[in-house]
Amino acid sequence: MSIDLTAASITEAVQKTFEGAEDERVKELFIRLVQHLHDFTREVRLTGEEWFTAMDFLERVGKTCTPTRQEFVLLSDILGLSVLVDLIHHPGGGSVTDSTLLGPFYVEGRPTAQNGSDISGEVEGIPLFFNGRVLDPDGNPVAGAKVDTWHSDGEGFYDVQMQDKLHGRLAMRALLTTDDEGRFWYRSVAPRYYPVPNDGPCGEILRAANRSPMRPEHLHFRLHAEGFEPLITMLVRSDDPYVERDAVFGVRRSLVVDFVHHDAGDTAPDGTRMGEPFQTVERTFVLDHREH
Ligand SMILES: [Fe+2]
Repeated sequence: MSIDLTAASITEAVQKTFEGAEDERVKELFIRLVQHLHDFTREVRLTGEEWFTAMDFLERVGKTCTPTRQEFVLLSDILGLSVLVDLIHHPGGGSVTDSTLLGPFYVEGRPTAQNGSDISGEVEGIPLFFNGRVLDPDGNPVAGAKVDTWHSDGEGFYDVQMQDKLHGRLAMRALLTTDDEGRFWYRSVAPRYYPVPNDGPCGEILRAANRSPMRPEHLHFRLHAEGFEPLITMLVRSDDPYVERDAVFGVRRSLVVDFVHHDAGDTAPDGTRMGEPFQTVERTFVLDHREH
């Protein structure tokens, strides 16, 4: 029956319309979604005005999206949903490297780079040398692993946020490949803590809640290798002021690392005698064997 419905009976009436779905998972997802949406609406006694505001908000989130600005991803991030999905499937605590959220600044079409090259794209900043190693759970090197890395500049901006200044170029991101020892390494510039984009609809939520938009300083990584589970993760600077209060809940203790300061005159990992201060970061990533 779907006439003369009440605030209580409408839920079951809507759920029944999904029972004909051929895909069992689609059926489950929509029936449970309707349950929770309706329960939420009854619980808070949502007003018509609030509902219109919500619809307008979602429309504006959609209109804010561009190929380089993912406002829906950001909405999911600031509500903790992105990390929740990850935590359900990758609770962590084992021998493999913990994962965390992708974030809104990963872009397709990044350049490939040779190990040891400078991936900064001529962006100025404090030189940073990264040395990474990729191992399997038994400690054997994973050769030929594809490693995406991307990060902000020293003022907290990603390349896609300063396309005018960079004349449309990408910078501070690259796809590297591990050598026979599972090693990959590159030079770039040190990133900085930054606010998530807060000049759009998601910023309205943060301000309404008096929330900080800041993310602690970090480097992103996305690893793929034949026979292993893909890994999306990041490394967070240990002495960053925002390490305990990431706006998008993505920090795991196991991913906090030291960004080591070196003085001018010291020798960089690539053997260069540096005429300016620089930083080094090292990290081993452990990939899980793919389940068959
Ligand atoms: Fe980031």
